[in-house]
Amino acid sequence: MSGDYEQFTYQIKMKTGIDLALYKEAQMKRRLTSLYEKKGYGSFKEYFSAINRDHTLFNEFLDRITINVSEFYRNYKRWEVLEKTILPKVLKRTKRPRVWSAACSSGEEPYTLAMIMAKYLPLSEVKILATDIDENVHSRAKLGIYPERSLQEAPEDIKRKYFIKEGGFYKVADEIKRTVSFKTHNLLADPFGTSYDLIICRNVLIYFTEEAKELLYHKFAKSLNPEGILFVGSTEQIFNAGQYGFEVEDTFFYKKSL
Ligand SMILES: C[S@@+](CC[C@H](N)C(=O)[O-])C[C@H]1O[C@@H](n2cnc3c(N)ncnc32)[C@H](O)[C@@H]1O
Repeated sequence: MSGDYEQFTYQIKMKTGIDLALYKEAQMKRRLTSLYEKKGYGSFKEYFSAINRDHTLFNEFLDRITINVSEFYRNYKRWEVLEKTILPKVLKRTKRPRVWSAACSSGEEPYTLAMIMAKYLPLSEVKILATDIDENVHSRAKLGIYPERSLQEAPEDIKRKYFIKEGGFYKVADEIKRTVSFKTHNLLADPFGTSYDLIICRNVLIYFTEEAKELLYHKFAKSLNPEGILFVGSTEQIFNAGQYGFEVEDTFFYKKSL
């Protein structure tokens, strides 16, 4: 059985470049086994030949491994800290911060960031890079239409200012959409950009092995300017941040040391 999974991860890597071995094994295996059993397959071997032939099955597979759940202002208190204490310090160092929302899912996170940055800068000067491994989420992000539950933590004034309500759905204003460029990027395989002042990477590191996480912390530190900030998810604090060249700036915010 475990040889079956190993062979599968090898085949997927050859086909897509995605290295499943860098995701926590027990969790990933469970997610995929329940999916293939539901589809009537008996092993990873059978499942691979099926997804190799059938595009819809392949997309379902991608959807299952990528766990795209997101929300505007997810963990509201943390975004409040970003707005009130972190961002003013970043903007003291530069009025044109380079910002990156990594593993951005369908856009809720970079759009939230744009709405917050707009409190300090004209929107025409806000530029955010947003990346995710899953190409399918980019079209959803660009469409910018979300169900009400995606906005449950968004403040009322923000909802009024930046969303148009259409039936049960909320459409993000074009002025916000224009600030974000979406690109496909695999955190575990693709090169990172440099000279960022703020990197947001939330609720994806939990799926990776310890080794993969450590490598990523080093890469994030390298990508940031001195005193640049890494903002992680609310279950993802970095133990021994110092070993990667970070200092704790606030809970779930790490500053690259000078
Ligand atoms: C649970 S969502 C988190 C979305 C958002 N950051 C948030 O906190 O609401 C996880 C996202 O990570 C993306 N992802 C998974 N593996 C990835 C990888 N190796 N590189 C880049 N993105 C990845 C998934 O496609 C998914 O959109």
